Amino acid sequence: MAVAVAFGQSTAFSKALLFLHRNGRRSFTSFSLPYSSSPAAASSSSSAFSSADKLRRQKWRVPVASVLERGGVKIARDDVVRDEPSNNIPDTIFTKLGQQLHRRDQHPIGILKNAIFDYFDSSYENKFDKFDDLCPIVTVKQNFDDVLVPADHVSRSYNDTYYIDPRTVLRCHTSAHQAEILSKGHKQFLVTGDVYRRDSIDSTHYPVFHQMEGVRVFSPNDWESSGKDGAAYAAEDLKKCLEGLARHLFGAVEMRWTDTYFPFTDPSFELEIYFQEKWLEVLGCGVTEQEILKRSGNSNNVAWAFGLGLERLAMVLFDIPDIRLFWSTDERFTSQFSKGQLGVKFKPFSKFPPCYKDMSFWISESFTENNLCEVIRGIAGDLVEEVCLIDNFTNKKGMTSHCYRIAYRSMERSLTDDEINELQWKVREQVESKLNVVLR
Ligand code: DAH
Repeated sequence: MAVAVAFGQSTAFSKALLFLHRNGRRSFTSFSLPYSSSPAAASSSSSAFSSADKLRRQKWRVPVASVLERGGVKIARDDVVRDEPSNNIPDTIFTKLGQQLHRRDQHPIGILKNAIFDYFDSSYENKFDKFDDLCPIVTVKQNFDDVLVPADHVSRSYNDTYYIDPRTVLRCHTSAHQAEILSKGHKQFLVTGDVYRRDSIDSTHYPVFHQMEGVRVFSPNDWESSGKDGAAYAAEDLKKCLEGLARHLFGAVEMRWTDTYFPFTDPSFELEIYFQEKWLEVLGCGVTEQEILKRSGNSNNVAWAFGLGLERLAMVLFDIPDIRLFWSTDERFTSQFSKGQLGVKFKPFSKFPPCYKDMSFWISESFTENNLCEVIRGIAGDLVEEVCLIDNFTNKKGMTSHCYRIAYRSMERSLTDDEINELQWKVREQVESKLNVVLR
C-alpha cells in the first residue's frame, strides 16, 4: 500500500508537459512505427484539413453511422478507428473528437479559455488572432517534425501518441499548429484545442485534454531601440505577459520561473505559482527556435511561444477534484457553471464509495502501463478512477510480476458488486488476450 500512495502522489500533474525531457522518461514499446515522416509524405498532406479530406475521399470506406464535424471537416469513425496494426485509436477516443469542451461558454474549460482571451484582448488591443476550431487530426510532420521534436523522442512512440496511420496522428499538443500558422503570416496568435495522449489513469490524467498555445513574433524595429538583443527582448516580454496572465487568473499569487528544455524553444522556461501551499507548474514557454522561424519565412524575426494545459488550471480555479468530471453530462455538475464566471467553486454533489480490485500477472517485454490503461478504459470507461502499480518483483528465473490495483468509482451513482465483478472479469480476460501477459 505504501507503494501505491507514493506512486499516486508523484504522478499528480507530472505529465502535463510532455516535452520537458530531452528524450522523455519512458522506454519505447516493441511496436515498430516510423518515428519520423518522410518528406514526400509530409508534403502531400501538409495540413490537418487536407489530411482529413483525403481520408474522406478514400474509396475503401464503407458507410458508417457515426460521423462528426470539426472545423468544416466531416470525420467518420472509419477515418479514425481502424482494425490495423498501425492504428491504436479506440472508439472511446473517437467519440471525444466532436465534443469541443473548450467551445462551450458554460463549461469550466470554455469559461477559462474566454478568461484568457479577455486578458489578451485587453492587454494587446485585440491583436492576437484566435484559432479554436482546428481539426485535431494532423500529420506526424505537423505534430513533431515542424516543431523540431527529435526523431527518437519518446513522445513519438506508439505507446504515447494516438496514430491513425504511420503518418497521421491525433495531435498531442497545440504546438502542432505553430509552424503552419506562422507560415500563413500571423504574428501573434492563440490556438486552443483538444489534445490526445495515451497515458496512465488517475484523478489528473485523462487521454483527452485541452491546451492553449500562444505565439508572438517581433521584428527588429521592436527590439533595436531597447538596446537588448532580440532573444533577450522576447524573453523579457514573454515573462511580463505570462506573469500578467497568472495574476489575471489567480489574483496576487507568488510566482517563480525555472529553466527547462523544450525542443521548440531556447531558452525554455516554466512558470510556477504558489497556490494552496504548493508550487504548481502552470505552463511551459520560451524563445522560439530560430529554425522554426526561418522555415516559416520569419528569418529576421524573433518570437516567443507558450503552451498551457486548461484542465490543470481549471481544476485548481474551480476546485474540481477529478479530471473525469469535465466530461460529465450530469446536471448536478453542468448546472454549477455559467458564462463568464471564472473560479466559482464546484460543490461535490456526493461521493460514492470506490471499489478496489487487484490483478497480478507476469508481464512480457512488450507490456506497458499505457496499454493496460487503454484496455481498462475500453471496458470500464469513466467508471475507472485510478490504476496503480502496488507490487512489482522479478523472480529467480527473471520473470517479472506486476500487481495493479484498479479503483472503480462512479461520480454519479453507486455501483453494484455484480456490475463491478462483471467489469473486472472482462478486464482480466482482455488483459490476458490483448497484452500478452499471464495472469497469476
Ligand atoms: N507543447 C508543450 C507540451 O505539450 C507545451 C509548450 C511548451 C508549448 C513550450 C510551447 C512552448 O509553445 O513554447 O508539453
